[in-house]
Amino acid sequence: PRVAVLAGGISHERDVSRRSGRRVADALREAGCEVLVLDVDAQLIPALRAEAPDVVWPVLHGAVGEDGSIRDVLELLGLPYVGTRPASCRRAWDKPVAAAVVERAGLVVPEAIALPHDLFRDLGAPAVLSAVLQRLGLPLVVKPARGGSALGVGVVREPGDLPRAVVECFAYGDTAVLQRFVAGTEVAVAVLDIDGAPRALPAVEIVADGPYDYAARYTAGAVEFFAPARLDPEAARAVAAAAERAHEALGLRHLSRMDFIVDAQGVPHFLEANVAPGMTETSLLPLGAAAAGEDVESLYRRIVDVAVA
Ligand code: DAL
Ligand code: MG
Repeated sequence: PRVAVLAGGISHERDVSRRSGRRVADALREAGCEVLVLDVDAQLIPALRAEAPDVVWPVLHGAVGEDGSIRDVLELLGLPYVGTRPASCRRAWDKPVAAAVVERAGLVVPEAIALPHDLFRDLGAPAVLSAVLQRLGLPLVVKPARGGSALGVGVVREPGDLPRAVVECFAYGDTAVLQRFVAGTEVAVAVLDIDGAPRALPAVEIVADGPYDYAARYTAGAVEFFAPARLDPEAARAVAAAAERAHEALGLRHLSRMDFIVDAQGVPHFLEANVAPGMTETSLLPLGAAAAGEDVESLYRRIVDVAVA
């Protein structure tokens, strides 16, 4: 099949997307597909019309890619594409909405407050932040309600560090999520949904020296990964089941990645869902695939074949 890989785009994660897109394109070419890589700009619609690919794979991280809007365009053009449909993207992309959906499906989610910038401004930072501290305590994780690659994310351990973390977070979006910090093992679980039911790949454990921030994510060797994660079998089963349930509850399609903290009791705490997970050389989904004995060439080819059918 002829595949149009969409990579780049206009989000903060443009560079990551270009790297992910290149890897996906290379793997698909290896697997015998004809591949063109398109950026998202004013030429996109005419280019898709002219090229008329059999299927489009949006490897676009961040807004536009993961918030459903580019998939709305693909729906309008009537082109088959890899991944989740627009409405479910919108649900998954918004962290408080996604957390509410998966909590209703029975998963454990860390206690959190979504703080719109208007409220922060109108009530004043001191009043809002002291109310947050009273309710959630420390440490706290501050993150944009909509975002990726840890941009705008901070861990706050001292009350004095909270205002700065919140203000930095608002640089990435108009709603901040302030979430109770959960101690435990950080894992990412990719889910494949290409043969009738969602199937979790082995959890990948992330061990970062410092924060697992943007630089740590995309610098080879900056983070140690364990694939599969060093969880006891029961915890590994629990996190796999939680990932599959979250994928299903959010209505995702073909592939996704769910991120969790597994606490000392083996309970997975849901952090977020990713509808366009990173596919770079240091990304988690390819590590999970390798741990399952899957090479990305044949895996991505199978995904394309399902999407085109
Ligand atoms: N947002 C990045 C690309 C990830 O989830 O891997
Ligand atoms: Mg993410």
